[in-house]
Amino acid sequence: MQRSLAYYTRHRSACRRLRIEASIVEVIAYTMRIVLFAGKGGVGKTSIAAATGVACARRGLKTLIMSLDAAHSLVDSFDLDRTLMDKNKGRPIRVAKNLSIQEVDAQEEIAKNWGEVHRYISSLLNISGIDKVLAEELAILPGMEEVSSLLYINRYVAQKSYDVILLDCAPTGESIRFISIPTSLEWYMKKLFDVERRIVKIARPIAKKLYSVPLPEDEYFATIQRLFDRLEGIDRILSDPKITSVRLITNPEKIILKETQRAYMYFSLYKMCVDAVIINRILPEAVGDGYFSRWKETQDRYIKETEQLFSPIPILKVPMLSDQVVGLKDLGKLAKEVYGKLNPEKILHAETPYTFRKEKGDYFLDIKIPFLTKKEVELSKCNEELIVRIGGFKRHVLLPRNIATREPSGAKVERDKIIIKFGGDHGS
Ligand SMILES: Nc1ncnc2c1ncn2[C@@H]1O[C@H](COP(=O)(O)OP(=O)(O)OP(=O)(O)O)[C@@H](O)[C@H]1O
Ligand SMILES: [Mg+2]
Repeated sequence: MQRSLAYYTRHRSACRRLRIEASIVEVIAYTMRIVLFAGKGGVGKTSIAAATGVACARRGLKTLIMSLDAAHSLVDSFDLDRTLMDKNKGRPIRVAKNLSIQEVDAQEEIAKNWGEVHRYISSLLNISGIDKVLAEELAILPGMEEVSSLLYINRYVAQKSYDVILLDCAPTGESIRFISIPTSLEWYMKKLFDVERRIVKIARPIAKKLYSVPLPEDEYFATIQRLFDRLEGIDRILSDPKITSVRLITNPEKIILKETQRAYMYFSLYKMCVDAVIINRILPEAVGDGYFSRWKETQDRYIKETEQLFSPIPILKVPMLSDQVVGLKDLGKLAKEVYGKLNPEKILHAETPYTFRKEKGDYFLDIKIPFLTKKEVELSKCNEELIVRIGGFKRHVLLPRNIATREPSGAKVERDKIIIKFGGDHGS
């Protein structure tokens, strides 16, 4: 696939000149590639996302690296002046041929996208006696910033603005919240939104007489509806392994490896495909028997363990370079260490975590979630939805119609899978 993408990009202008097959080439070959770089704090996510961007751009692919971390550091990784980004109000800026970076400006996006929702919540906070400026700050709900980034991604995909979008994620917990937003929002819109809107409509005249607290106006609901409409399709894009993959960045150490396993489990829960595990900061052989020799032994042990745990997912090994990685030249060097001869935009592994199958009249749903123990998982079913809860995260899985009419008749955790059996048909 990546060959056709590079081919398409190289030949795009020639095709346009010829005017003939351009549209055919575009239809056949255009597939955007989205890669998330995720992992524990400080493991090298930003550096590797940036290095991947440099390598993709050098291959002629129109590339955007977007920061999903509120503590943006892409600008620093490219050694640019931060005021450049501030002046640009969070829109993409070009850093090299074919390469742009974007650090979304939360305040700017919230004013643009969330207008009425933000005004309503800050008015509530104002009533409770909080200072106006503080109320404005507090009225930024968790998730607003992430939704703004999702809106951008959805728009770029629809408008075919880039060949490759690389997402520099926040540390694990927050990045999982990011990918859980489309399903949570869909659930809210389906189950609660209309009910809330109707209740508010009926209650508003009474509430006005009784309370000083205002109920949200129609425009509040219209804003939420508009936002939801603009997010249409994003969950499909993020869970399609032909478009989107996650690369987990890790370091060869116990605590970081544990978190990498957890991250893998949660990404699988949200149906996202991990196409590589990148072990960064491996000490070179040259450290020998000196001060770092114990570190070297520990690293060797955890490299082996990572390989065993994540097989058959490709493992890419990256040495600790002789200095920090800052600026285009260093990032190009790091990209060579990460990918060697591999094409950075390539789908390195594509296994979907969810499979529905039928066996002897019973239906089964297999969810591949490695590193899971039975006591960590909770399952429940509500109409056509299966709710899978692991730790603090839950996912609503919309069941196909032929399965939705059946009740789960058993579930087990087997090696790296949850297997859920759906028995008797209640619908017929
Ligand atoms: N292979 C490497 N060799 C040498 N230095 C590295 C390597 N990878 C990353 N670094 C350096 O480590 C530091 C942290 O890297 P980076 O900012 O990419 O991590 P991060 O995972 O994005 O951190 P955060 O969770 O804070 O966003 C940077 O100074 C970077 O230059
Ligand atoms: Mg970072």
